[in-house]
Amino acid sequence: MTKFLYLSDTHFGKEPNGFQQQQSYPERLPEILGALKHEVDRRGDIDFILHGGDMIHTASDADILAISKMFDWEVPVYLCLGNHDLTSPEALERWMELAPQFFKDGLPVYSIETPDFILHVAPNHWGEKDFHWETCQDARFSEAQMAALSLKLNSRPQLPHFLSTHSPVFGIPVVQSGLKEPIHVPVESFTRQILSLAEMHPNLCCVLGAHTHLNMRVEHQGVEFVTVSSIIEAPFEYKIFEVTEGNIRMSTCRLGSGCGFDYRYNEE
Ligand SMILES: [Fe+2]
Repeated sequence: MTKFLYLSDTHFGKEPNGFQQQQSYPERLPEILGALKHEVDRRGDIDFILHGGDMIHTASDADILAISKMFDWEVPVYLCLGNHDLTSPEALERWMELAPQFFKDGLPVYSIETPDFILHVAPNHWGEKDFHWETCQDARFSEAQMAALSLKLNSRPQLPHFLSTHSPVFGIPVVQSGLKEPIHVPVESFTRQILSLAEMHPNLCCVLGAHTHLNMRVEHQGVEFVTVSSIIEAPFEYKIFEVTEGNIRMSTCRLGSGCGFDYRYNEE
């Protein structure tokens, strides 16, 4: 069995409030990550951590170094870069130079091979320029990325494959939000790109996203599409994936009061 913990949207350096789905506590990030690390250490069975992106709020050397220190854990921590991690033209280069431990082979696109599954980490791009985000919310994979992913998904076809990217593939369904329309629906061309990969590669079983700060689970043609909420927003949730032969189990867990401070949570 291989187990990994999936969290996202730590937004280190963010001011309180701003974009959030629940009350966010960016100033409490040390306590939140302290509680999470404590839980990981207590369990002792997590093989690696996957961060779904927006590890920091605005790209700078100081913040990349600071968050590296905060995630200097015994368990390997991997990052799928998000739009907020790439707010300057040189951000990608700075991540690779200052925090190579979050990636593999000095590259932002990489695969983690385990005895039970393969996880492909491939941050999506935004707008025209690869690995640089300004304001555009239109997610896309480049043609080169699509071709590389297709090749990788052909490897070890007997194993389930996971794909991690920052943008969600579907909006939050009405059944999960109670609203009249789906929200945070990505640009259709991005959904089509991922669905075409899934159609060509039946071993792709789960696509992980983040970015909306909301938990989502959509099953579409046998593939699970999952997003995780922001770990800095109440009640401070993350997911645990346990993969064994023929079985994948996902649990949504919360740190809640384990963070050691009072917080506000809108149950509705
Ligand atoms: Fe994001």
